[in-house]
Amino acid sequence: MGPIKLVIDTDPGIDDAMAIFLAAVSADIELLGLTTIFGNVTTDIATRNALRLLEAAGVDAPVAPGAAMPWGDWPFEPSWEVHGREGFGDIEPVTPVTVPVGESAAELLTRLAREFPGELVVCPLGPLTNIADALVRDPGFAGNVARIVLMGGSLDEGGNITPHAEANIYHDPQAAEAVFASGAPVEMVGLDVTHRVTCTEEDFDQIAEASPELGGMLKRMSEYYLKFYRSVGKLDGCSLHDPAAIIACTHPHLFETRDVPIRVVTSGEEAGRTEAAEDGRKPTKVCVTVQGPEVKQLFLDRLAQLP
Ligand code: RIB
Ligand code: CA
Repeated sequence: MGPIKLVIDTDPGIDDAMAIFLAAVSADIELLGLTTIFGNVTTDIATRNALRLLEAAGVDAPVAPGAAMPWGDWPFEPSWEVHGREGFGDIEPVTPVTVPVGESAAELLTRLAREFPGELVVCPLGPLTNIADALVRDPGFAGNVARIVLMGGSLDEGGNITPHAEANIYHDPQAAEAVFASGAPVEMVGLDVTHRVTCTEEDFDQIAEASPELGGMLKRMSEYYLKFYRSVGKLDGCSLHDPAAIIACTHPHLFETRDVPIRVVTSGEEAGRTEAAEDGRKPTKVCVTVQGPEVKQLFLDRLAQLP
């Protein structure tokens, strides 16, 4: 079997940067493009950062800008405190040489899903607005994609942006509900597993030593990310949320899943909470346990191959 055909929908973002470099170096992934979304930063900054990451990694793939705001009149405020004003902690912004493609995120997603029916894997690492837009744009999208392996949500782990909600789902609860209700082949890599894949300062030292250029860039970003984790009392390192989702695409056997129909609370105090639905909708494959040390080791081994 050849490499998987992958599109990453992303809001870079420090752990998104880790995930994109991981995908770039993975021989079992053919990266067909990035689509961008607000979340950790605005969509404009996410697009600029996505271009910068691909340039740094030497990957020639299209970057398509996505939606600027959530569905409905849901308010949006970027997660500055976790990722910094420019998305990469204290690293100064750089204007990329390359430019985004003319297609929107939803256009690129639906076109590639039609071009590679049953083959395309989509890995959303931010709010699900572009995926929901793709489902609206092309009613065949849900049937054309092979897998939607998303980082987001939580079954039994509670939230990280509110006591009830994980950040990616919280930033656009209505779009997330549309995706979970769509019948598309959705796999949820949520906090139940990503909280069990963590990296420490020493791990990032090791990454920078093995890969001075790109690993060094991640090490500098991680300083800001780790500082945030310490500020909220998490002293055992930071979660590899988005890299874990990439690894779920290529190494699903490292995750135990349970089939659970998922719905999203779309308003009120618990908005963004993901919970079991009882309306007969198609189940989501929810990752419930993970071989954390193996996932982390794979992450370290692969990043060590970067320049
Ligand atoms: O809750 C973690 C998720 O929110 C990650 O995707 C992180 O990058 C932020 O988008
Ligand atoms: Ca993200």
